[in-house]
Amino acid sequence: MRKLMKTTTSALAALAIAGSVAQAAEVEVLHWWTSGGEAAALNVLKGDLESQGIGWQDMPVAGGGGTEAMTVLRARVTSGDAPTAVQALGFDILDWGAQGALADLNEVAAQEGWDDVVPAALQAFAKYDGKWISAPVNVHSTNWVWANKAVLDANGIAVPETWEDFVAAVETLSAAGVTPIAHGGQAWQDATVFDAVAMSTGGPDFYKAAFIDMDEEALGSDTMKQAFDRMAFIRANVDDNFSGRDWNLATAMVINGEAGFQMMGDWAKGEFLNADKVPGQDFLCFRFPGTQDQVTFNADQFMMFDQGGVVSEEQAALASAILSPSFQSAFNVVKGSVPARTDVSDADFDACGKQGMKDLAAAAASGNLFGSMAHGHANPAGVKNAIYDVVTAHFNGEYDSETAVEELVDAVSIAQ
Ligand code: BGC
Repeated sequence: MRKLMKTTTSALAALAIAGSVAQAAEVEVLHWWTSGGEAAALNVLKGDLESQGIGWQDMPVAGGGGTEAMTVLRARVTSGDAPTAVQALGFDILDWGAQGALADLNEVAAQEGWDDVVPAALQAFAKYDGKWISAPVNVHSTNWVWANKAVLDANGIAVPETWEDFVAAVETLSAAGVTPIAHGGQAWQDATVFDAVAMSTGGPDFYKAAFIDMDEEALGSDTMKQAFDRMAFIRANVDDNFSGRDWNLATAMVINGEAGFQMMGDWAKGEFLNADKVPGQDFLCFRFPGTQDQVTFNADQFMMFDQGGVVSEEQAALASAILSPSFQSAFNVVKGSVPARTDVSDADFDACGKQGMKDLAAAAASGNLFGSMAHGHANPAGVKNAIYDVVTAHFNGEYDSETAVEELVDAVSIAQ
């Protein structure tokens, strides 16, 4: 494969021999992969590049979901010092594309046939004006539940299929003195749970109308009020110290048997694997009850900032490495996500990864694949942040469900 990669690799080897010029063969990568599982996955990418003689300058910005990373990015770009490569999600990528800030990756994309192997749902966020402007690393999805198997077994709880089953399971754990739900009270985590709860409460048409079409009627509906009521039930079943907790510490509570469930995207699996836990044996992964046929996805991509008109050799090499089938398998096996190409075998993936790949293909085929609101794939950042504010204020008891619905309608209308 990859003629360009070969040229690039030998060019870089020549640079390395040239000594001082070798400094140039480096990428600065801004990202928010700072938890144990995320760092393990990032090492796969670092290792891949280093094996090609490309140095890695790390620019981590802690904060799940990337809100803080995007703030740092804006400051860097404003001061004329954009990093070479930046982790980004959905509408944020299109926004930078519209500003003309990103390098054109069409040459590497054409040489490697990205058009044929990257799913359409991802291409919609990786191309602007016909040009590839970012390299998709993975596909995550947010409508997952992670459970401690021993805790469920000890309490006679089977995998809940419906919201009512879930309520019963939570009540059983609560009565047994176990924290039913591990949660970190940060806006993006509240919103991640809301993705799944809204989908489960109203179904795919409702999710699309409310979050993707931003339809006032759906946003202000009784169904939305019911979704907020379900969020209040979840709030009533987290522990007292949930506020501000990082997502991976909530995952650790499930790993350690201090809590039964966590509702979180499949990056949570990276934490279980990093703690040497085995799916089906130590932990269970299943779709949020009532969303078994749907997938709310988000895809991490790397945008390459324009370094003066052309894509640099290091940027092309990074983009090429990211899309290579072997990297897509090796990285996503560790990260908890699934490949951003449709032609990668599931052989190396564990049971949750295999299910993730199957669910993604089935949802795409049946029209049940939707961008995650919480992770920037349903609407632009301004609207997303407006929804975050309302969901979090309600979760923290500032609004009752009826008020939350009214606030949501107003906030989304103002933010558009
Ligand atoms: C990203 C994941 C990341 C998670 C938590 C999500 O927005 O897509 O890659 O692991 O945030 O940091």
